[in-house]
Amino acid sequence: MTRHFLRDDDLSQAEQSAIIDLAIELKKDRFSVKPLEGPQTVAVIFDKSSTRTRVSFAVGIADLGGVPLIISTASSQLGGKETAADTARVLERQVAAIVWRTYAQAGLEEMAARTTVPVVNALSDDFHPCQLLADLLTIREHRGSLPGQTLTFIGDGASNMAQSYLLAGATAGMHVRVASPEGYAPNQQVVEDAVRRARETAGTVTLYTDPNEAVTGSDVVVTDTWVSMGKEEEKARRLTSLAAYRVDADLMALAKPDAVFMHCLPADRGFEVTEDVIDGPQSIIWDEAENRLHAQKALLVWLLEQA
Ligand code: CP
Ligand code: NVA
Repeated sequence: MTRHFLRDDDLSQAEQSAIIDLAIELKKDRFSVKPLEGPQTVAVIFDKSSTRTRVSFAVGIADLGGVPLIISTASSQLGGKETAADTARVLERQVAAIVWRTYAQAGLEEMAARTTVPVVNALSDDFHPCQLLADLLTIREHRGSLPGQTLTFIGDGASNMAQSYLLAGATAGMHVRVASPEGYAPNQQVVEDAVRRARETAGTVTLYTDPNEAVTGSDVVVTDTWVSMGKEEEKARRLTSLAAYRVDADLMALAKPDAVFMHCLPADRGFEVTEDVIDGPQSIIWDEAENRLHAQKALLVWLLEQA
């Protein structure tokens, strides 16, 4: 049966763990598996800008023996003249999978509902699940294992990254904390879904408004831009509302002494994180960025096996 990856909890704990195991194997031997040999094509569609996602999918699909077809929505019919459902039905006759970075989660759901090939969310307004597979791989590399680790997100709790940490972290059996100001809390339904998943995995989900309280004793401290793509008009208000949620050395000092700092990038140094933290010894951002490649390759291999 075709499986899609539209949000982090589309995978069970066992499936998530198997994909990360496979990513670790593929990282050791990049060209060992060629499920796209032929070559088959994977469509990678962008409604929003991207560096890491574009490069890692293009390189990863080539590593797997396939051909990446990178489509910018602005130069296609999708988003203008044609629906996601019709686009999906055209693409499925020719490609092995569809990867899509877009705005509304509903568009991804519409596409997945109408196609026989796997659809992958390469970032939506609500979730960034491919980034989370890379982040979990990186945490495993640096901290040994995932269950029981305390991960604290500081900043815009309603952002795609915060919401993906809730779902993916809960799936992994982690203790996920999110600290955000009033008006920037995660979506209530997402929190309920994460809490339900955490009950199955012995993880926990806790929301805070005080960043100091949230970060105390954490293994992993994460943040993200205060102005996500599509929120540019709210920039002035966001910079004011989130000013007390900057990750700086004083905040990091409240986490465990060996805690790591993560950021999906791109970063606004001096806003959500100070330079000394993001470029300092606790930061593992470059491993995190590299791991997009290995994690997404493992995801594609796994999805193609299910089809
Ligand atoms: N982290 C991430 O998804 O980066 P890009 O926007 O550059 O793809
Ligand atoms: N939250 C950010 C992530 C960028 C990779 C955004 O959506 O712009």
